[in-house]
Amino acid sequence: MVLNFQKDTSLLPYNTFGIDVKSKHFIDVESIEELQAVLNQNQLENLLVLGGGSNLLLTKDFEGLTLRIQNRGIEIVEQDDRKARVKVAAGENWHDFVLWCLENDLGGVENLALIPGNVGAAPIQNIGAYGVELREVFESCEAISIDTGKVKIFKKDECNFGYRNSIFKNTLKGKYIIFSVQFNLKKPPHALNISYKGLSEKLEGKIPNIESIAQAVIEIRSSKLPDPKKIGNCGSFFKNPVIPLIKFNDLKLQYPDIPHYPDQFDKIKIPAAWLIDTLGYKGYRNQEAGVHPNQALVLVNYGNATGAEIKKLAQQIRNKVKEKFAINLEFEVNIL
Ligand code: EPU
Repeated sequence: MVLNFQKDTSLLPYNTFGIDVKSKHFIDVESIEELQAVLNQNQLENLLVLGGGSNLLLTKDFEGLTLRIQNRGIEIVEQDDRKARVKVAAGENWHDFVLWCLENDLGGVENLALIPGNVGAAPIQNIGAYGVELREVFESCEAISIDTGKVKIFKKDECNFGYRNSIFKNTLKGKYIIFSVQFNLKKPPHALNISYKGLSEKLEGKIPNIESIAQAVIEIRSSKLPDPKKIGNCGSFFKNPVIPLIKFNDLKLQYPDIPHYPDQFDKIKIPAAWLIDTLGYKGYRNQEAGVHPNQALVLVNYGNATGAEIKKLAQQIRNKVKEKFAINLEFEVNIL
């Protein structure tokens, strides 16, 4: 098998932050056999696995091998008159998969329309938006061990899904490459979720169905979130912090209007965007790095920012949030 390794490749086209760094080695893989052949080579101490590059901030040239998962395919593997199990290659674009579901009248992922990135990355951080998380439709994924090249199937209960979290970000970080994902989707009548406040408002006067929900989500996202093709970004840079109820009650005395959502027992989730906005950072710009004017949770590259500049801004925000609210913000984006 001929493996087409490249050298000193710019990663600019492959990360949605639009950061121009080089990778010493680079390869696209389209099949399990190719992936296994790459993993058999002995240069793998330093490996960067890229999907859509939409949750990654690159701060320096990468000295190892960047491996881009480029397999394709969406197929129904099992169905009856109520539901369908669909197998999707990791290299498929997430939003294209959502559109495929709409065309095939399959429900479950319409609230997750327009999330950037590829299907293979979706389980890693259990992508979520507008009241729905990936875990609700996830059946299993096929993953390749980086150490042995062997294929392993992970069922849902083995993935430890949490808020923007899974086993692939924790104990198995850097151990497996997800190669395909199977989803459980519903045929009509669909189970719709329009509980998210902004979504139900947007749907007022319309008949809710998977098409109108996806359309509403696309409109909300497009109005708040910058299009990475026009302005570099990775969506939410920070996770929404979850704080103890006691601490929340203290904050509420000072900020009676603080938005909040109940989380687990005696814990409250606060929108990080509100904390950052309250500090006056929304629309802030320092040369090429900034905070998006419509959504304070999103850091943007106005053109020629370096990863280090964006990281510096993120740290500055994190320090200020700590200072003012005594809350630790966690990065959602991976920094390399
Ligand atoms: N808010 C502000 N200022 C802002 C934006 C928001 O004060 O600039 C406050 C408002 O009170 C608003 C609340 O924050 O009601 C929540 O805002 P929004 O509905 O936009 O959601 P979010 O919590 O900021 C999360 C996800 C997004 C997802 C939306 C919708 C995280 C880290 N982010 O944002 O996910 O699209 O909910 O479900 O959980 C992503 O992960 O990249 C992402 C964009």
